[in-house]
Amino acid sequence: MISADLTDKRTIVTGGASGIGLGVVRTFAQNGSTVAIADLAGDRIGESAQTLVDEGFDVFAAPCDLRDNDSVVSMVELAVERMGGIDYLLNIAGHPVTLTAIPASDLESQSEALWSEVLSINLMSAFRTAKAAAPYLRESKGAIVNTSSMSGWRGGGSSTPYSVAKGGIITLTKELARGLGPEVRVNAISPSYVHPESTNFPLRWESVFEDCEPLPLGRPGTAVEYADACLFLCAGASFITGQTIHVDGGWSA
Ligand SMILES: NC(=O)c1ccc[n+]([C@@H]2O[C@H](COP(=O)([O-])OP(=O)(O)OC[C@H]3O[C@@H](n4cnc5c(N)ncnc54)[C@H](O)[C@@H]3O)[C@@H](O)[C@H]2O)c1
Repeated sequence: MISADLTDKRTIVTGGASGIGLGVVRTFAQNGSTVAIADLAGDRIGESAQTLVDEGFDVFAAPCDLRDNDSVVSMVELAVERMGGIDYLLNIAGHPVTLTAIPASDLESQSEALWSEVLSINLMSAFRTAKAAAPYLRESKGAIVNTSSMSGWRGGGSSTPYSVAKGGIITLTKELARGLGPEVRVNAISPSYVHPESTNFPLRWESVFEDCEPLPLGRPGTAVEYADACLFLCAGASFITGQTIHVDGGWSA
């Protein structure tokens, strides 16, 4: 676990009610930031926010559906009203949409509707939040961190559109870095395997520990380890932008 002084910093974390996102919320709050948890309305966002508030952190729920641009704009307005601005935007949310993996060979199952939904949640969502938050991030000279995946580099995700969305995040990160610099730095993390206690991702690998054996580090990453990479990219990394950093136990090595 690393640390930084985030006193007076204002952070939005999408997907912050669960898994890696919840780890990011906790890490940024522990280091002194106020944090808006941007996630779907429902029990989980309320419970996650309440748990952290009970632990003494300055965290609040900012419910939204990242598939809907109006909802994203309202979420950003709520966060700015509550925090007075935005320093960091962490786009961690993602969803496979399909509840079982669709092999790349099964083109028939990959409908137009599936493509739209998967791209909307896993790629366009990161553009929507960046667009809505950009004026505030420019003002604060802030930073954005997006979330790709090993499937974004090599395919093999839960479906072809999911892999394409995660590959798109790598390019979107470069585009936003060009578009929002020099005021705003934009980077991404690329997770590999996630420890089962650090995710509620609907498609889990039952064999995650076995799958990790060939990795140089031989195990899945925890939410804290993914959050540490986000903290580095936001609070340090002052000459790094447009990069997607492998946080993967050596999967890409
Ligand atoms: N879990 C893995 O094995 C794995 C591997 C590589 C990359 N990733 C990526 O890491 C990120 C975090 O994954 P995780 O394992 O923490 O998953 P998770 O399911 O535990 O958390 C994802 C969060 O995103 C939220 N979310 C989904 N759709 C949303 C929407 N339309 N609007 C608002 N919020 C929405 C969910 O409610 C949930 O709280 C995702 O982008 C995922 O694609 C995960």
